[in-house]
Amino acid sequence: MTSQVRGVQLARLLGQWHALPGRRRSPDYAALAAAVRGLLADGRLPLGVRLPAERDLAEALRISRTTVTAAYRELRETGHLASRRGAGSWTMLPGTHRVASTGLWTPLDDRDMIDLGVAALSAPPQLVPAARAAAEDLPRYLGGAGYHPTGIIELREAVARAYTDRGLPTSPEQIMVTSGTQHALDLVLRLALSPGGGVLVESPTYPNALAALSARRARITTHGLAADGDGWDADLLLGSIRQTRPKLAYVIPEFHNPTGHLMATDLRERLVGAAHAAGTDLVVDESFVDLPLDGTPLPPPVATFDRHSRVISIGGMSKPYWGGLRIGWVRASAPQVQRLAAARVGVDMASPVLDQLVAVHLLAQGPSIVAARRIQLAAQRDALVKAMADRLPDWRVTVPRGGVTLWVELDGPISSALARAAEEVGVRLAPGPRFGLDGTLERFLRLPFTLPTADLEEAVGRLAAVRYDLDRTGRPQWREPSVIA
Ligand SMILES: Cc1ncc(COP(=O)(O)O)c(C=O)c1O
Repeated sequence: MTSQVRGVQLARLLGQWHALPGRRRSPDYAALAAAVRGLLADGRLPLGVRLPAERDLAEALRISRTTVTAAYRELRETGHLASRRGAGSWTMLPGTHRVASTGLWTPLDDRDMIDLGVAALSAPPQLVPAARAAAEDLPRYLGGAGYHPTGIIELREAVARAYTDRGLPTSPEQIMVTSGTQHALDLVLRLALSPGGGVLVESPTYPNALAALSARRARITTHGLAADGDGWDADLLLGSIRQTRPKLAYVIPEFHNPTGHLMATDLRERLVGAAHAAGTDLVVDESFVDLPLDGTPLPPPVATFDRHSRVISIGGMSKPYWGGLRIGWVRASAPQVQRLAAARVGVDMASPVLDQLVAVHLLAQGPSIVAARRIQLAAQRDALVKAMADRLPDWRVTVPRGGVTLWVELDGPISSALARAAEEVGVRLAPGPRFGLDGTLERFLRLPFTLPTADLEEAVGRLAAVRYDLDRTGRPQWREPSVIA
C-alpha cells in the first residue's frame, strides 16, 4: 500500500525551495529536485510515497510543467524516484544510502561529511579494555541460558547504586536493563499507553521520542520551551497538565535535548504533584544527567518527589559512554519492572549479556571517564560558541550548563533551507523542525558539540559561507503561509 502526497501538500512541505541559499547557480528544475531530496533526507517526506502528478505539482507551485518533468527526471536519475507508466512515481533512496542513527539518510561514501546531525560522542579509550574484561567475566554466565529479561544482576546493582548516590534510594528490583534509552521509552509506552492516549511533550523535544509516540498512535500535545531563560514556564506547564490531563508526560529535565535547559528543583516537585493530581504518569528521560559542565550542581532527581509510583525514569550509557553499547534502563517500582519485563519478552527477550558486562566495567570507572568527558565537552562547547560568535554573529545562543547541544536561534526562518544547502558543502544538520511536531521551529537549529574542535570550527566556516551566499543572492521573500483546506 502506498500513500500519496497531493500537490498542495508537497508544495507546503517544499516551502521556500526556490530561495535555497546558493542556488543562484542552479536552474529551477535542479533546485526543485534538490529540495525534494532534502525533504527525504530529513525524514519529512517518507519513502515509498507516491508523488503528485506533474501537472498537479506544477499548479500547486505555480511553475511550468516542464520544470516539474525535468525535476522528476533528475530524481529518477539520482535514484530518488521510481516511476511506472500510468501508475505514478514513488519516493525511494539510491542503493548507496543507509540510515544514520538520527533517522537521516547518509551516503556510504561520504567520508568528508561533518555530521552535526548526531549528538553523541565517539567511544572513550576505556571501552576496549572494558570489553576485554567483560569477555573474561563471561564464563560466569555461560552455564545458564543467558536470558535475563530485567538485566544481569551486576548491572542492575550498579545502576541502582548510581541512583542511590544521587540521593534516590533504589534497589536492583527497581531497575530493568534495556537495549538503549530509546528501547526503554518504547517499552514504557507499550505498557502505559493505549493507542490514542494523550501525551504531553516539550517542544522542541527529542525527535526519536516523537517517533516512538507516533508509533504508539499517541495523541500528542506540546508545552513550548523558551530558547532562553529557564526554558519551562512553570505555570503554563502545570496548567496544561491540569487542563488536558494527559495519560502520560515525557520530559527531559537534565540538559534537555535540544535546548540544554536544566529544570529547577521547585518545578520538579510541583510537576510531580500536578501529575499525580491529574492522573498523569511522568516519563523522565535522564539521558544527559551525567553531563553537567562548569561544575553545575544537579537538582534532585524528579523521582525524589514521587510518593505514588507516578514517575518512571529512563536513562542509559549512550551519552556519557558510547551509543554503540546499546545499554539503557528503566527505574520504576518493582511491580512495574516486572510488568515491563513481561512485555519485553514479546519484543526482544533480553539484552545481550556481554554488552551488559561491558557496561558494568565502564560504570566501575564511571567517575574518571565522565570527568574527562565533561572537560572535553566544555572545551568543544566553548570553541563552537566562539566560532559562531566570530563567523555568524547574528545567530543567538544561550550557553547550556550541560549536555551536548546548542539550540541556536537563527537570523530567519531558514533552518531547513540551510540544512539542505549545508549538505551540499559537506555538513549534515538536524534542522529545527525535526524537533517539533508540525514543521515549525524553522528559526532554530540544533548544533551538537560532540565532534572534535577542529571539525566544529570547519563546520561553522562552511555554514557561514552558505549563509553568506544566501545574503548575496538577496534575502528570500517569505510568502505568507497559505491556507490549505
Ligand atoms: C533525550 C534522549 N533520549 C534518548 C536517546 C536515545 O538514547 P539511546 O542511544 O540510549 O537509545 C537520546 C539520544 O540522543 C536522547 O537524546
